[in-house]
Amino acid sequence: MALVSAREVLRTAYDKGYAVAQINTNNLEWTKAILLTVQDLKSPVIIGASEGAIKYMGGFNVVASLVKAMIKDLNITVPIVLHLDHGSYEGCKKAIEAGFSSVMFDGSHFSIDENYEKSKEIVDLANSRGISVELEVGTIGGEEDGVMGSGEEADVDECVKMGSLDLSMLAAGIGNVHGPYPDNWKGLNFDLLKRISDAVRKPLVLHGGTGIPEDMIKKAISLGIAKINVNTELQLAFAAATRRYVMEGKDQDMKAKGFDPRKLLKYGFEDICGVIRTKLAMFGSVNKAS
Ligand code: 13P
Repeated sequence: MALVSAREVLRTAYDKGYAVAQINTNNLEWTKAILLTVQDLKSPVIIGASEGAIKYMGGFNVVASLVKAMIKDLNITVPIVLHLDHGSYEGCKKAIEAGFSSVMFDGSHFSIDENYEKSKEIVDLANSRGISVELEVGTIGGEEDGVMGSGEEADVDECVKMGSLDLSMLAAGIGNVHGPYPDNWKGLNFDLLKRISDAVRKPLVLHGGTGIPEDMIKKAISLGIAKINVNTELQLAFAAATRRYVMEGKDQDMKAKGFDPRKLLKYGFEDICGVIRTKLAMFGSVNKAS
């Protein structure tokens, strides 16, 4: 199956009351783990790729080609969206040229007027090619230089302004942050989420999906969240599993060739498949591939 835009996938999730996971990819193992798991669970998915991860993997064309080729060779039939995560203005254009089916333009560091103007240009370009767009209002906090921000809360009027563009999904800060949540985290601001959702009436995106408890996830979905991004949780799981493999001395087993990357990375691969399974079940997208 060819890549699909997120527009229909998210509209259906929004109308039916579940969320589609955005799982960020970092390499071949991640991409394969995502594709095989969603195919097994008959779930749609959004494969996210940040500009940093894209640079690491070799470039926009490498990522688009890898995902498309893997869909073909692994006979993946469920809907797969390839989405640029937190894209710059130039990054969005490169992703569109390379064949991504969805982009996020993150203009949150601009003034709201500049964010709106630049977002409109990206929306017009993307829509003319059938590519979905995610926009962001406010900034999603997280760890920066060792300091944990509490996560900015978006302004409802700014959400309405951005939401008036022909976008497919809107990300707005409601106390969520990237990376693990600190012990003193106050939780998601559901009152704000409800006000944004009632005012915008379009699928909303929850960034920073790592470590948000199930009851909060379910409530957020009931209030209009239709896409939930998860990245760090898989990285932590992969690192822990790889450490376990090494601590068991398996990499030094010369007879079994435990140093072969296909073995060295297997524990990590299996454990991220497990994390993806848990998230898809929690978000309610299992068996929703049509
Ligand atoms: P986490 O790394 O906290 O899961 O957040 C991922 C994300 O929001 C990517 O945009």
